[in-house]
Amino acid sequence: MSEIAQQDSWPNLLEAFVQATSPLPSEWAPIFGPLRRGGCDAMMVVGQLGQTLDGRIATITGHSKYINGPAGLTHLHRLRAVVDAVVVGVGTATADDPRLNVRLVTGQHPARVVIDPKARLDPEALVWSDDGARRLVIVADQTQANTPPGVEVVSLQTNNGQLAPADILKALFDRGLKRILIEGGADTVSRFMQAGCLDRLHVIVAPIIMGSGRPGFSLPAIEHMDQAVRIKMHPHPLEDDEMLFDCDLSAQRVRIV
Ligand SMILES: NC(=O)c1ccc[n+]([C@@H]2O[C@H](COP(=O)([O-])OP(=O)(O)OC[C@H]3O[C@@H](n4cnc5c(N)ncnc54)[C@H](OP(=O)(O)O)[C@@H]3O)[C@@H](O)[C@H]2O)c1
Repeated sequence: MSEIAQQDSWPNLLEAFVQATSPLPSEWAPIFGPLRRGGCDAMMVVGQLGQTLDGRIATITGHSKYINGPAGLTHLHRLRAVVDAVVVGVGTATADDPRLNVRLVTGQHPARVVIDPKARLDPEALVWSDDGARRLVIVADQTQANTPPGVEVVSLQTNNGQLAPADILKALFDRGLKRILIEGGADTVSRFMQAGCLDRLHVIVAPIIMGSGRPGFSLPAIEHMDQAVRIKMHPHPLEDDEMLFDCDLSAQRVRIV
């Protein structure tokens, strides 16, 4: 599949994607078809991580801009353009100060959601910029949010300080947000994966070996290989020698709504 052809026909994909009944252009269907609807309920949740060949998503200091080249970043912006909401943990919102909007392709900005149980994100963070997109913060109940006017505050019950990913998704669904991108970081994506709350996972591997740095996934330790998660996976070559691995996690997805 040629990346140039993809760029030319991107607006066609976007138009067909939102009209749930239209078939997708054939060159886009393998990657974006599975993102139209979830396997087991009315939500669709896709996680993403951009990582090196040796599985790192940031340096030991937390620097990650940018592991991926233009092709990988363009794919990330396309993902943002087809979802209702993009979700990050407060670690990412703090380390990267991302805008989480759609700039590299045409498309609407999704709602931006930060999981910030202790309300520690700086209210001046770029993610809270008022550009017309909805902005939501997820805090632990009993915690006073520290966000600018216009940011919707969602208070959820915790268990030992932890929020259940399924509760987060249900709260988003109740607010009209049904197609969700869990954009990072490693901790947040790993929590959603472990809780069976992802339909798909897009891992975009860059031709880089870091040899140190933060790992992409952090799951409970296992002793034997047969305990490892073996995934149904579809590789898609991108430009710049990058590779998109589209992982199908629908078999382990729990029902949210
Ligand atoms: N390469 C990539 O694709 C990519 C993408 C995004 C980020 N990054 C990099 O990843 C790093 C940040 O990732 P990270 O793993 O450290 O942090 P993170 O996943 O962004 O945020 C983790 C924090 O979010 C809160 N959180 C998330 N889910 C929660 C839940 N279910 N219950 C309770 N709290 C929850 C917790 O906040 P509290 O600590 O306040 O409890 C947790 O410590 C940065 O270096 C960034 O540059 C890379």
